Amino acid sequence: MALPPGPRAPAVLNTVRFARRPLDVLRDWHARYGDVFTIRMLGFGTGVYVVDPDAIRELFTGDQSDLRAGEANSFMEPVLGPHSVLVLDGNEHLRQRKLLLPPFQGSRVAAFREVIRDVAEREIARWQPGSRFVLRERMRSVTFEVICRAVFGVTEPERVERLRTTLGAVIDSSPIFMVARAARVDLGPLSPGGRFVRRLRAADAALYEEIERRRGEPDLVERSDVLSLLLCARDDQDRGMTDEELRDELFTMLGAGHETTATGLAFAFELLLHNPPVLARLREELAAADDDSYLDAVVKESLRLRPVIDAAERTLTKPRAVAGWELPAGVKVYPGILLVQQREDLYPRAHEFRPERFLDEGAEPYSWLPFGGGIRRCIGAALAQAEMAEVLRVVVPAVQLRPLRARPDPVVLRGITLAPRHGVRVAVERAPRLGSVGHAVPVTHGT
Ligand code: HEM
Repeated sequence: MALPPGPRAPAVLNTVRFARRPLDVLRDWHARYGDVFTIRMLGFGTGVYVVDPDAIRELFTGDQSDLRAGEANSFMEPVLGPHSVLVLDGNEHLRQRKLLLPPFQGSRVAAFREVIRDVAEREIARWQPGSRFVLRERMRSVTFEVICRAVFGVTEPERVERLRTTLGAVIDSSPIFMVARAARVDLGPLSPGGRFVRRLRAADAALYEEIERRRGEPDLVERSDVLSLLLCARDDQDRGMTDEELRDELFTMLGAGHETTATGLAFAFELLLHNPPVLARLREELAAADDDSYLDAVVKESLRLRPVIDAAERTLTKPRAVAGWELPAGVKVYPGILLVQQREDLYPRAHEFRPERFLDEGAEPYSWLPFGGGIRRCIGAALAQAEMAEVLRVVVPAVQLRPLRARPDPVVLRGITLAPRHGVRVAVERAPRLGSVGHAVPVTHGT
């Protein structure tokens, strides 16, 4: 079967070009080959990129049993574990997903907003005038703590620190330990593989301890954190989740939700700092405190212009017609998040940061897809957007930041995400004015 057109360059060249300048390269391929093009990449095989919202709607609705995503994520299994919703497919994936979705629904997530503001307030209290830092690093610290508190339900500072140290050591390890079995061979505590295996064991021990402790909490059924809700959840056959399943899903939520949200926030701040009129309007809107529509529009527009993931990924298990092409089994299909979100026909002046475009019209599900779609759509989408909005609500009125680079960072590929190359370096211009959080509910410290 013929595949759609695409660059004839060898996979290695496509991969190097894509890793170095993902935005330019994707735009270039789109301009040359149109809305459906074939790409060969090292480690990914042959994939068909789809930039047509109607074709993406067809992929993301109805029966999706012939589209697999877990297989492609299986390289993460050594860390996330075999029960992770990210690495499963078929009925097992659906079972885990059904258990995980309820705690992440919008109504539940609303309860986390106060926790997020508290974490952000405590972060900026440490920002001294004149200090300089990499914003993405500060945001990683915030999003880690939000996951500890909202998802794991851990609030005691010493326990949060233990999780930060043990889980952080695994997450910050080189990806080589995930992808190469040989790198994980334990040749003693001083060998690289040995060190990694011990880090993983320490992280597991910390997670299992939290799970055990929570099972024994007398107020378990009244708690609103995700772990407590999962401990009470039952599937169709009235089975609860095992400790191993819980461990894998906790690691998965951290792995999928910590860096991504931190990068999303770093991009949002960068766009605001390089677009002073938008920043000024956001300040005004937050001060007027009527409603959150402009704040939410800033979050949506930021995720549109700078999505953290460039494309979703599905592997066909059967031949399937996609965007007018008969594609064979085994081919990967990439619903092109980034390119769809930069189409001029959907978003006039698509390369400009214009949050007001989302004030008149909401986000269309198949033309705004930073969280993917269908039966694999991001489980943490509502939490991520709430996190971005609440952190902006706290930081923007309280602190004046100055970007240290005259131009926005080039966007590069980091692992499987897009990220600002230098992490958005900033200087603090004036001391944070604490307690200046718009119309937000007062923050209760130490919760
Ligand atoms: C700005 C932040 C985030 C972005 C841009 C993002 C983006 C994505 C994308 C594109 C996918 C794949 C969707 C698909 O294949 O159709 C995904 C999956 C997933 N995300 Fe997120 N995500 C973010 C934050 C979070 C958070 C905070 C959590 C949880 C705490 C989370 C948990 C997950 C999980 C569990 C999956 C796998 C779903 C499945 O396979 O069924 N994500 N995310």
